[in-house]
Amino acid sequence: MELQEAIGTRRSFRYLDPDRPVEIGKIQKMLEAARLASHFGNNNAARALVVQRATATPEQIASLPSPVGGFQIQQAPVVILWYIELDAMNDAGQRLRELVQVGALGYGEGRFEELERTLVPLFTRQREGLKLPGMVDMDLGQAVAQATLVAIEQGLGVCCQGSANWKKVEKAFGFPESCRIVVVQTVGYPAESREAGGQRPRLPFEQLFHLNSLANPFPRADKVVKELEQSRMLQHQAPLPGRDEEVEALRRRYSLPRSGMI
Ligand SMILES: Cc1cc2nc3c(=O)[nH]c(=O)nc-3n(C[C@H](O)[C@H](O)[C@H](O)COP(=O)(O)O)c2cc1C
Repeated sequence: MELQEAIGTRRSFRYLDPDRPVEIGKIQKMLEAARLASHFGNNNAARALVVQRATATPEQIASLPSPVGGFQIQQAPVVILWYIELDAMNDAGQRLRELVQVGALGYGEGRFEELERTLVPLFTRQREGLKLPGMVDMDLGQAVAQATLVAIEQGLGVCCQGSANWKKVEKAFGFPESCRIVVVQTVGYPAESREAGGQRPRLPFEQLFHLNSLANPFPRADKVVKELEQSRMLQHQAPLPGRDEEVEALRRRYSLPRSGMI
């Protein structure tokens, strides 16, 4: 599957086949993609704990409630806990030196001295601030996004899940204070069709993006839209015909709660 089609095919797949295990190599490929994501200062703070439902303790699984669609955790053969290792920021100086060593940052003869005089003290001074929610969450988001596309390309379905009580999850899985879970991602083979009812609604393009001025919507060319329809990045809008029947059949097959909201 090409990249644009993977982007267009990605949905939050809420209905996973609980009886079909996920090959560990496919999870590894998701993690390999996450590792390659860009991090500010190359901090490598984006981390993951992969949990196989079959071998997790009941207490661990029970610690993973979601404020929305909680049944999804029970269906998923794999749950990835995506978290930030805040202590990674303590090594910011070393990460910057590596970037200079490989030619990704800086140039000229005096670049190492310059680095020690400018960026290393800056990152060291700002260390605690850099651990606060913001850029590090962005890093983790990019890692999750890359892993998500690799999951889709491999025929898997994923869905991010929030929690009203991350402390409970962190405790159940023995996370130290330096770690902060940001999101949990259910992973498995979709029990629903790949279309999953079609592209979910988004606000209009022109409302979201601008050119040169916030008053000026970014021009959306029909020609480009048509190209993206051809490459299947832009797909049919939800709901596709038969979606209600599809979800009702899934609800019955897996004895899911009547509304599936919580
Ligand atoms: C950070 C994040 C957290 C999310 N948390 C939940 C959640 O707790 N429960 C859930 O059912 N969906 C969750 N979602 C999925 C969104 O609700 C979903 O993106 C939205 O329904 C749009 O559908 P789509 O992803 O299929 O395009 C989350 C998505 C993101 C990116």
